[in-house]
Amino acid sequence: MSAVVVTPHLHVLRAAGTALVVDSSTAGMPRVLHWGADLPDDAVAQLPLLASGPVPHSALDESWPLTVLPSPADGWLGTPGFAGHRGGGTAAPRWVASVDQASERELVVTGEDAASGVRVSLAWRLDVHGVLRVSRSVTNTGAIDAALDVAALRALLPLPVRASEVLDLTGRWCRERSPQRSVLGDGTHLRASRRGRTGHDATLLLAVGTAGFGFGHGEVWATHVAWSGNHEHLVERLPEGAGMHRAVLGGGELLEPGEVRLEPGESYAAPEVVFVHSTDGLDGLSRRLHRSQRAEPGYRHTPRPLVLNTWEAVYFETDLAHLTELADVAAQVGVERFVLDDGWFGGRRHDRAGLGDWWVSPQVWPEGLGPLVEHVHGLGMEFGLWFEPEMVNLDSDLVREHPDWVLGPAAGHPREWRHQQVLDLANPAAAAHVVERVSALVGEYAIDFLKWDHNRDLLESVRRDWDRTDRPATHLQTAAFYAVLDELRRRHPRLEVESCASGGARVDLGVLARTDRVWTSDCNDALERARIQRWTGLLVPPERMGSHIGPPRAHTTHRHLDLSFRALVALQGHAGLEWDLTTCDAQERQVLAAWAGLYRELRPLLHSGDPVRADLPDDSLVVQGTVAPDRGEAVFQVLSLETGPAATPGLVPLPGLDRDRAYRVRVRTELGEPATVQASAPDWWSAATSGGLEVSGALLTDVGLPLPVLAPAQGCLLHLT
Ligand code: GLA
Repeated sequence: MSAVVVTPHLHVLRAAGTALVVDSSTAGMPRVLHWGADLPDDAVAQLPLLASGPVPHSALDESWPLTVLPSPADGWLGTPGFAGHRGGGTAAPRWVASVDQASERELVVTGEDAASGVRVSLAWRLDVHGVLRVSRSVTNTGAIDAALDVAALRALLPLPVRASEVLDLTGRWCRERSPQRSVLGDGTHLRASRRGRTGHDATLLLAVGTAGFGFGHGEVWATHVAWSGNHEHLVERLPEGAGMHRAVLGGGELLEPGEVRLEPGESYAAPEVVFVHSTDGLDGLSRRLHRSQRAEPGYRHTPRPLVLNTWEAVYFETDLAHLTELADVAAQVGVERFVLDDGWFGGRRHDRAGLGDWWVSPQVWPEGLGPLVEHVHGLGMEFGLWFEPEMVNLDSDLVREHPDWVLGPAAGHPREWRHQQVLDLANPAAAAHVVERVSALVGEYAIDFLKWDHNRDLLESVRRDWDRTDRPATHLQTAAFYAVLDELRRRHPRLEVESCASGGARVDLGVLARTDRVWTSDCNDALERARIQRWTGLLVPPERMGSHIGPPRAHTTHRHLDLSFRALVALQGHAGLEWDLTTCDAQERQVLAAWAGLYRELRPLLHSGDPVRADLPDDSLVVQGTVAPDRGEAVFQVLSLETGPAATPGLVPLPGLDRDRAYRVRVRTELGEPATVQASAPDWWSAATSGGLEVSGALLTDVGLPLPVLAPAQGCLLHLT
């Protein structure tokens, strides 16, 4: 590994084939010379030569730099890194920067403008997997005795000309994370979220790549804002470029006017923004992001227990006799964690009342939850419980007792959403109440797992503060939510937590830093799920993605799907069931038991390997897999989502394998064989379904397997050893 600093002013962060090069030789903030693939030292040393381009007519008289905090003082007329003012003044700081590079993976820049009394601290940390995290804070130094209003503190990095195609994700309830692609043009492609939570439509990653980039090919640059409140991701291209670069990519917290007002001496710490680059397509991004999360302290490496969640099984009809029977069947088929969903507390017999009253309902549970919890634990399963601590129904004892704890303007409550309002968690008494209630129940019932829900967007998210009314509150609310979770985890270190928000409306690295998995979507229709999980997996490793088998007829789409297909798709994540198993016949229970065994067998690989997704000509067929880091073992799913335009899929290469070895290819038939629409199966199929056959890695990689003609909503699992 080369020296950290090539010359005293050149600062190189590098790891795992990726590099950020910053130059501090000029006045003002350091300029960014390079972000992307790593470069040899001699190339890095010559980068400053390329830092000044030609000066066109009708433009700034000198070549200008894109700095680490782009601003008009540098020449940048796009979205600025910092924006703020002090009652309309001191709005254009000129930074005097100092740079401190502690290691080849960490750089800290402090910028100060003494005249306007503002200081910013920026830090870039590159982990060993090549994931770059940028943290930023701004301080009102007190040089001027007045408050500083912070409008934005973004992290932005440059993109080259060849980064010309944008991929972002959007969505809605039950259809989270649908991809949309566009050609990068001049202007700002902005994905802003003002929902007070991450949002069903949050982009997860904003990626920009070379023309036609795919899962396995192309160069891609991507960003993610690690925050569960209002936020923005943007890629922006101006005709004049960005210094010598072509465009900028990044984002930050989206602040409402007046939301962050710093009195002298106060600071605002912006949420981390994550950047990642790949020379081998989206799979390269995901590989880095998954490995990086798995290396974090506190990450759960214990086998992810097979879950049964009661929601689609019983909804609000929680009843000891029925749930005891359900737990018995669950344990028989191999479930390891039993989660009691909504409806167990206060007056919560439906979604119009009781939210906020975190006491076990004496009407429904006259002996408390004890008998159920003991039964579940006695069967060797963990016990999990649903909460929605940030929300209230107005029809609740909590609101009757503390009407002032409801978030919203002095003029009256915001519009209702699922008949609920938001608890003002920035009120210390409300936050302490939530911690006390949840903690008491976790202690009393030895609860192993919380499903932590958040079922509405925030509207008119303002609080009636002691000195000013209707103060913007989303930042405070998000920070208070994090603080409550952090306190609960401090008190109960073994407690696992799932982030749910009407399905997958709170999926981001801010919440994942303090939870163990996300509820990916309320849609348990396996066909929809296959797509939702495929794209959620860009960022989220499978073991953090809740993925359940729903009933034969999906409750959210009314579509009937075979158990084998539902079971196959559920294997893509942290698997579970959301189905009243007491209604299952013997045959279904047998398949579920076999599926549970397969999950237990394969999860060490599925939950530690690297994701690979085949680039196929259309979306009718999905081929995706998990390959062990040493490429000695792999599991592939072949899913037919709809009929394809071709009569047969043809030869389909399997990505990510080792060309220089042979693999024993088996079709795992525990879930049954898929229905096909073919007169006869391909030759290799019968050997693969009965013991397996040896196939060269080069053949699988470069030529491919002739796949069967699967009927729509059918699939199979290939296991390669
Ligand atoms: C949300 C969740 C569901 C379920 C219900 C309970 O919609 O996403 O999984 O927990 O709330 O009310």
